[in-house]
Amino acid sequence: MKFFVDTADVDAIRELNDLNLVDGVTTNPSLIAKSGRDILEVTKEICDMVDGPVSAEVVATEYEAMIEEGRKLAEIAPNIAIKVPLTLDGLRACKTFTSEGQMVNVTLCFSANQALLAAKAGATFISPFVGRLDDINIDGLELIADIRQIYDNYGYETQILAASIRSANHMSDCAKIGADVATAPPAVIKAMANHVLTDKGLAAFLSDAKTAGIKIV
Ligand code: G3P
Repeated sequence: MKFFVDTADVDAIRELNDLNLVDGVTTNPSLIAKSGRDILEVTKEICDMVDGPVSAEVVATEYEAMIEEGRKLAEIAPNIAIKVPLTLDGLRACKTFTSEGQMVNVTLCFSANQALLAAKAGATFISPFVGRLDDINIDGLELIADIRQIYDNYGYETQILAASIRSANHMSDCAKIGADVATAPPAVIKAMANHVLTDKGLAAFLSDAKTAGIKIV
C-alpha cells in the first residue's frame, strides 16, 4: 500500500521523506489555509520535494471555473493530481482532465455509488473519507471494502486512496482491505512504528548490554 502524507506542512513532509515514507502528498483548502502559505507557492515547493503525485484541490464549484483552476494547478509540475469534489460538475471536470492525460483525485467521497461514478469518469484516484464517516457512526472501513469489491468486479483502474485517516489502526485496516493508497497526517504515519513491546524489549537489550559491558565501536 502506498503512503501519501495528508498535509501542506513542508517541514513535516521533508522529515517523512527522509525516512522514505512518502509516496505522495495530499492537500486540501483547509490544510493550505492551515499552512498560511500561498497555494501555488507551497504546492510548487512540495512538488519539488516529492517524486510521487501531489494532490492540489480546486476551490471553484462550477465546471468552467474548475477547468480554469485545474489547468493553473497542473502547470505547477508534472506530478500534480488535480483534486475535484465529488459533484456532477466535479465528475464532468474529471472526465475532461483525464481525457487530456491529467491525473485527477476525486475527493469528498462517502458512498459506493459516488466511487462508481468517479471510476466511470476515469478518475486516477478516489478519496473515500474513513474518519468523517466514523464520526457519524458509519463504518468508514466498510466503504473501502465495498469500493474494493466493486472496482475488482469490473476491473476499474481508479486507485482507492483512503483519506480522513485518524489512527495507525486505520492504516493497517486499509492495507488488509486492499486500499491502493492511504493518506494520513504525519503523526499517524510515524505512530505506525510505535509498539510498547518494542520499547520494552529495546530497553531490556540495552540494559543487558550495559551490564555486560558490550562495546561495538
Ligand atoms: O485530505 C482529505 C482528508 O484526508 C481530510 O481528513 O482529517 O480532515 O477528516 P480529515
